[in-house]
Amino acid sequence: MLSYSTPYLAGRRSSVFYKDILNGLQAENKHLPSKYFYDETGDKLFQQIMACPEYYPTRCEMEIMQHQSAKMARMFAEHDSSFDLVELGPGDATKSWYLLRELQKTEARFTYYPIDISSNVIGWLEDRLPSTLPGLRMQGLNGDFLEQLLQVNTFSGKRKIVLFMGANIGNMTPQQATVFCRELHEHLQPGDLLLTGFDLKKHPRMILDAYNDRQGFTREFNLNLLKRINNELDADFDVDQFEHYPVYDPLTGACKSYLISRIAQEVHIADRVIRFEENEPIYMEISQKYTLPEIEFMAIQSGFSPVHTFLDSKKWFADVLWQRMP
Ligand SMILES: C[S@@+](CC[C@H](N)C(=O)[O-])C[C@H]1O[C@@H](n2cnc3c(N)ncnc32)[C@H](O)[C@@H]1O
Repeated sequence: MLSYSTPYLAGRRSSVFYKDILNGLQAENKHLPSKYFYDETGDKLFQQIMACPEYYPTRCEMEIMQHQSAKMARMFAEHDSSFDLVELGPGDATKSWYLLRELQKTEARFTYYPIDISSNVIGWLEDRLPSTLPGLRMQGLNGDFLEQLLQVNTFSGKRKIVLFMGANIGNMTPQQATVFCRELHEHLQPGDLLLTGFDLKKHPRMILDAYNDRQGFTREFNLNLLKRINNELDADFDVDQFEHYPVYDPLTGACKSYLISRIAQEVHIADRVIRFEENEPIYMEISQKYTLPEIEFMAIQSGFSPVHTFLDSKKWFADVLWQRMP
């Protein structure tokens, strides 16, 4: 058993992960940052969620990318100049793969920069993409979206096309998403393009089912963050004492996941004690749903002008293309 005074634990206690986790669990309304879902197990679980029959967003966006990537590629390659294609949170890039292939067909001159907080994701993409897309120029970057986008700006001054797909933006509240898009605006040049995936409002049951799959992958995905905290921060969460509880509000479009403490309990994280009341929630993640007018409003609010909306055949999901205004 390691004592808390070892340099090993002192190092962990000074990590950003430790600080973010404690910040969230010591708050009046306990919460955990969803970006930490994605360790090696979390990445695999997310792939299983995407394959679930209830999880429609992936199938809808896949349909858009399979059928409309050629049009996107023509729009991106229009100016005949070379560019940087930056993807924020690509995951396994199964959908952006279609766009990369179409861009290669148009002989566009571009470098692909996938940015992901999961080092596992970046390693996997660097291993796999060169064999399925021979000749692809790419450089993976492991870290947070905006900090790594700044890095890309230091590599080259070429025009930028940013992909932010898979309803990643839905993991922010509408206010946070608008602030994030304003920050993207700051990091881009006039004329640069941003393609963002938005999940659209639809029947509430369809939405709730997508975040409560019968096989229990979403439940495991949420509980995995507690296991990650146990493994990486020497904590002692008993995951069986927490219940996955998703809710959807059709008025606001907010689908939220919580873990509910089944009993009054104490959890130790390194040398800290976190107390839970019976039925106390930990707010885990938001998956925000939008209408098309709400999306257009966000574009204008954050300094972009809407260029085109790519919809799937059911009109359940939208990949929207915006241009950065001067
Ligand atoms: C919901 S998945 C979407 C993956 C992919 N775009 C898709 O559509 O299937 C979110 C991805 O974003 C990454 N991610 C989440 N928060 C991040 C952050 N703040 N900075 C960088 N990557 C992040 C995760 O590791 C994960 O690969």
